[in-house]
Amino acid sequence: MDTKKWTQLWLEYHKAYDGDGAWSVAFEGFSDNQVVIANAIYEFRRGIEALTGEMVLESGRDDAGKCKVRTLTICNNQSVPAEGYHIEGSEKGILVEASEERGVLYGVFAILRQIACGRKSFEVKESAAPSNPLRMMNHWDNMDGSIERGYSGESFFFEKDQIIINDRTRDYARFMASVGINGVVINNVNVKAAASYLITDRYFDQLARLSEIFNDYGIRLYLSLNFASPIEIGGMDTCDPLDKEVKAWWEGKIKEVYERLPLLGGFLVKADSEGRPGPFTYGRTQADGANMLGDVIKAYGGIIIWRCFVYNCTQDWRDTKTDRARAGYDYFKDLDGAYHDNVILQIKNGPMDFQIREPVSPLLGGLKRTNQMLEVQIAQEYTGHQIDLCYLIPLFKEVLDFHTHCCEGKDTVADVVSGRTMGNTLGGMAAVINTGNDINWTGDDLAAANTYGFGRLSYNTDLSAEEIAREWITMTFKLSKKEEDLLCSMLLRSREIYEKYTSPLGIGWMVTPNDHYGPSVDGYEYSRWGTYHRADHLGIGVDRTDKGTGYAQQYYPENAKLYNDPDSCPEELLLFFHHVPYTRMLKSGKTLIQHIYDSHFEGEEEARGLARDWESLKDSIPSETFDRVKERFDLQLNNAREWRDQVNSYFFRKSGIADEKGRTIY
Ligand code: GCU
Repeated sequence: MDTKKWTQLWLEYHKAYDGDGAWSVAFEGFSDNQVVIANAIYEFRRGIEALTGEMVLESGRDDAGKCKVRTLTICNNQSVPAEGYHIEGSEKGILVEASEERGVLYGVFAILRQIACGRKSFEVKESAAPSNPLRMMNHWDNMDGSIERGYSGESFFFEKDQIIINDRTRDYARFMASVGINGVVINNVNVKAAASYLITDRYFDQLARLSEIFNDYGIRLYLSLNFASPIEIGGMDTCDPLDKEVKAWWEGKIKEVYERLPLLGGFLVKADSEGRPGPFTYGRTQADGANMLGDVIKAYGGIIIWRCFVYNCTQDWRDTKTDRARAGYDYFKDLDGAYHDNVILQIKNGPMDFQIREPVSPLLGGLKRTNQMLEVQIAQEYTGHQIDLCYLIPLFKEVLDFHTHCCEGKDTVADVVSGRTMGNTLGGMAAVINTGNDINWTGDDLAAANTYGFGRLSYNTDLSAEEIAREWITMTFKLSKKEEDLLCSMLLRSREIYEKYTSPLGIGWMVTPNDHYGPSVDGYEYSRWGTYHRADHLGIGVDRTDKGTGYAQQYYPENAKLYNDPDSCPEELLLFFHHVPYTRMLKSGKTLIQHIYDSHFEGEEEARGLARDWESLKDSIPSETFDRVKERFDLQLNNAREWRDQVNSYFFRKSGIADEKGRTIY
């Protein structure tokens, strides 16, 4: 890897205006001996110089005679909420108020963002506080350097079982802090091989350095943990969470870990899932496992984030009673209230697995006395591998805005995970991140909109998908207003386009098995993964109503009723909840089969529209970036065409019903 060469993403800082002065920095209640503050000033200097050409004067230097000197005043104000800030520009300079160091850092990034987006320094103004206590990135990086579901090169944390620390590490921390991320899990949830040894002396020195670099940007380091560590690295013959010796082993281990890594935030655990070990092996509950670790780590202020992605992955496809969608709720709902205070359950946004359209998991808000965290995926595993354009923030907004009906008012997913519903302090949002060591970090340059967007959204869930897209575009590129509008519309259209040419109306899973790119309509139909569409010659869809698998009944009555009836079920989820005939009339006045044909023809056509729009930006985008993205659009067009023709042909052959418009179907 050439460590000198990588992009600065949205911190590129193009010239915004020609400044007429210089800056000094003053402190009230903070000082630049504090590392996070020192980094905030470093960021201010770097940003303001690039944006306006104005220098930040070394302290003690008085150049006031030569030019106008404005002051950045960094002020400790204990009435500002934790991690929040108040920024306000005037002729004299800019005031940043915060009650702690991280707030100052976020305030400085907000100043730079506002200037990059068109304000003059004296116009800067905002009061902000984070919507979510925890705003995390989950890397699925393996220690051999590969990344599970990675589409942007190799890991920049690991190579050949070693931890890498270089200039790129700091840039990564800068990018994350600039959008308000305050926790990072660096290793894959599937903890195997060398990764099991991250909690041993082999890696403590490097991890300590990494945790310090993160800490200096307000970020806590977390690790994914192997639940079977007592066996795999401890030489024991059990990892039963209720076994006294197992607990004693963990006590010793966690003590050792915190002696060497005092800045560690805690652990993320994938247990009893897809072959990973867990408490079920010993007839124990998920709460037994999570609480044992939670109790052990409590003395050090650490937390346990326990994933709810638990389901039977060896299902017989002939078995129509078992429904994978039910699993999360079935395994976790009964234990609501049993999880200890420093344990958080991390729940994927949908009940299946990051498909382009799924209902919101009924576990979110279904749990009423348990800390909850929402997990989304910006790594585009099922959404186009960072080849196909797919801006995911609209999807995340839908999830956050979803009314669970868990209580009167304060019942959206955003309310639940932020802690507003239960008045708890642990919760938030996590994303499986889409980065790697490619020079542009995200493979597709446009996929960085998801990286940026997730951070911004997790800090402020009230922002709209469009506001976030606009910020990202303005900060990343130097375009005219008209061009920005065009790129913004491309991002905002992209999710729906991807949905149109892939699988219809919430059914999901018509994707090439394992790799998860490109169509394979029956690829998961006769497999063990619990992911079926149940198409026959008359119709398609999974009956998840009270007459079917009963999944719809896992929601609170308002939603259960809505989903249970095909007439009230939101149409984009029709096939998730109902098995319906191809001849069923949709609200559009089209039959289901005609909808499938039309949406696939439209989706492919609209993907070509995206590629054309990109072509029209050629003269305004740096050529390397332009070419990289163009190559991806070429691949996306092939993909869209393949999806269109395979899906349409499949359903034509199954149903024998012709396309009303007589287009070519094979
Ligand atoms: C998906 C994904 C796996 C991943 C798993 C998880 O199934 O394909 O690669 O390990 O999710 O979230 O744990």
